[in-house]
Amino acid sequence: MNVLVIGSINMDLVLSVKEIVKPGETTSSTSYTTNFGGKGSNQAVACRHLGADVSFIGSVGADEFGEAILANYDELGIESSGIAKEGQTGIAMIQVNEAGENSIVLVPGANHQVSKTDIDRHRPLIEACDVVLMQLEIPIDTVGYAIHQAKALNKKVVLNPAPANELSREALRQVDLLTPNEIELAGLSGLPVHDLEHAEAAAKMLLNEGVGEIVVTLGRQGSLLVTKEESFYLEAEEVKVVDTTGAGDAYNAALVTGLSNGMPIKQAMKLATLVAGYTVSVKGAQPKLPSMSYFLKQVEND
Ligand code: RIB
Ligand code: NA
Repeated sequence: MNVLVIGSINMDLVLSVKEIVKPGETTSSTSYTTNFGGKGSNQAVACRHLGADVSFIGSVGADEFGEAILANYDELGIESSGIAKEGQTGIAMIQVNEAGENSIVLVPGANHQVSKTDIDRHRPLIEACDVVLMQLEIPIDTVGYAIHQAKALNKKVVLNPAPANELSREALRQVDLLTPNEIELAGLSGLPVHDLEHAEAAAKMLLNEGVGEIVVTLGRQGSLLVTKEESFYLEAEEVKVVDTTGAGDAYNAALVTGLSNGMPIKQAMKLATLVAGYTVSVKGAQPKLPSMSYFLKQVEND
């Protein structure tokens, strides 16, 4: 099975700080690292680590960061013929505090050049895949168009609507599996989401608008599946938090890879919970993951 990610690619400039800096403050960082990042890229790389065949439509800069990213894709075996090189590579300035929480300033750079023309140009990649996985870090019109094209080709569409953004009803309706967090779910439904009951009600509203299935990610509270037939809540793993950056991306990647391997959705959620927990326990948004079989042993032990 083949996962096509249409999304963002960033370089993450990570500053480890005692506390996230407030306006007017100056703080010193205890360490600084440059990591591969970007929601699309994080998800693609995690799918690949878990054994999926992965291709990508997106854009990096015509710069050193872009070259490093593409070299890494070659090493990992991610099909990168759909990635343009133009302008500057997207950058995320990330502060991570001692509790592992982060705050991010994003410079989209080349990600904002991913266009409908790119989607048309790389149509063979859509034709060749089984599932299209998207986020909202590239232009929203491009995402809407890509959803439409993918559905016209009968592909399964998974949308992680992050970061929170508006999305047309028309596009939303065509999504087979939507994976918002609480904030994104509140934004898309227009309903408050403060607890599980709220989340279920908001998700049901989106199901009524035509979304296929919804998995709400609730951070350390776990995740919630809401379909027309049922709701199912799963707790998160208890882990020592080192860096939460990319936890949602890891969850999405594992969920999609599990489903593509034929897992029932509840089992894929368990896998996703384990993989997200692992990612939270290590630094960076694109850690090298243990193999699928390592996680499967734990899924089956449950
Ligand atoms: O989801 C985490 C990602 O969001 C980071 O890697 C950063 O690049 C931002 O896009
Ligand atoms: Na991490």
